[in-house]
Amino acid sequence: MFQKYSPVTRADYQRWIPTQDAAIRRVQSDPRALRYHLMPRLGWLNDPNGLCQFHGIYHIYYQYDPFDVNGDLKLWAHLTTTDFIHYEEHEPFLFPDSALDAHGAYSGSAFVKDDQIHFFYTGNIKLFDRPDHDYIHSGRVANTIHLVSPDGFQFERKELVMGMEDYPEGFTQHIRDPKLIEEDGVTYMVQGTRDDDDHGALLLFSSDDLSHWQYRYALRTKEPLGYMWECPDLFVLDGQHLLITCPQGVPTQGADYANVHSCVWMQLSHTLADGLTVETVHQLDRGFDFYAPQSFADEQGRRILIGWMGIPDADYTNPTTDHGWQHALTIPRLLSWKDGMLHQQPLPELEGLRRESWQMDVEALNARGFDEECYELELQLDGCKQLTLSLSEEIRLTYQDQLFTLDITACGCGRTTRSVHLAQLHDLHLFSDTSSLEVFLNEGSEVFTTRIYPTRPRCVKLKTEGQPAILRLHALSAHQ
Ligand code: FRU
Repeated sequence: MFQKYSPVTRADYQRWIPTQDAAIRRVQSDPRALRYHLMPRLGWLNDPNGLCQFHGIYHIYYQYDPFDVNGDLKLWAHLTTTDFIHYEEHEPFLFPDSALDAHGAYSGSAFVKDDQIHFFYTGNIKLFDRPDHDYIHSGRVANTIHLVSPDGFQFERKELVMGMEDYPEGFTQHIRDPKLIEEDGVTYMVQGTRDDDDHGALLLFSSDDLSHWQYRYALRTKEPLGYMWECPDLFVLDGQHLLITCPQGVPTQGADYANVHSCVWMQLSHTLADGLTVETVHQLDRGFDFYAPQSFADEQGRRILIGWMGIPDADYTNPTTDHGWQHALTIPRLLSWKDGMLHQQPLPELEGLRRESWQMDVEALNARGFDEECYELELQLDGCKQLTLSLSEEIRLTYQDQLFTLDITACGCGRTTRSVHLAQLHDLHLFSDTSSLEVFLNEGSEVFTTRIYPTRPRCVKLKTEGQPAILRLHALSAHQ
């Protein structure tokens, strides 16, 4: 059936990885290697997958291609932590080793039920023998696969729960990234898709036993939003139904949708059973590198989100590829619903990374020449009308005429600025690592996530109209 059928098994990986010590050392020797973000040991990383907490242990999986720095065949890498400071890296959890997923164990999620973890993911098959090689309408198969695991490490078999014949009419072969939610005793699955009119949408299925799934309906925005939606994540926070998804190809509108591939959150009304409807749409992140986030409720009921600090089809060459690696995950973020807005804030556990902390005024900061690469900066800025925050000669954040702008022109490998209109700027919380920045504004109701490739030393300088109420700095250590 396939011109090329090249599954990679666990045994293949186990034979190959011991030959890669020099390549792994090359990754580690990159001065841009991140200190407190999760990055691949070797090769390529994309979406976080299967996030969950089970028996106290947080499991983090991600799309991983250790064989190709530009990402081709996808495995699921696997890490665990109990505190988001100390991590243990395990052998990859999933390999594209069967006729169901031979061209990629694509993205998926975890669903904890009856003391087991159920994983659902997309088994990607490309039909190389199709003469037109049209991967939209005829040249691919997206299998929905179910695994049951007693511990997040083992599973017995890959169960095919939906194939192409089980998906509804009117949609292309782009159907993927299953995520589950339970409501009123019914389990629902959402998948991202591209319809026959080239509009993004969400497909909703339900099941009584996690093996047999019925199509219920498609969810769309009133006006089309891009040609494809990837990585849907539907959840309820403080009684509010919210959907995070990644629409591709939304036209740029002023400062909005500046990237070809975006990530948005939507406020929904009604229930899953009645038929959800989209009320409002907002960008989840305004930076250059944020995509495919996934959230989960932990055992304390907190909703935690981790994103891919990268973007598909980036229009520049990431300089880290010279050292044999590419991309990373964001810091874990706590989601909350306040005043009709979704907020993202750094997970409190990250305070455990703080090595040394200072509180100072603007004069003291500017006189000091703060030159750490890995740090956190907190500003409380009530009533601020104008601000210029330079992190080095190459990185500048400004707020002026109600426009907040991140400018990385001098160290962005061709990328320049990203902005958001803000009537008020109350606070700013920034996380800097060797080659990344995450900036949370107004308690995280707007966020900018981006990779940076500085060549000049860091030196934080601040100019504001009036004194900030609080200015704190924390030097951060590496995660363990
Ligand atoms: C998003 C995505 C998903 C897909 C995965 C493949 O970045 O394209 O839709 O499942 O990556 O790696």
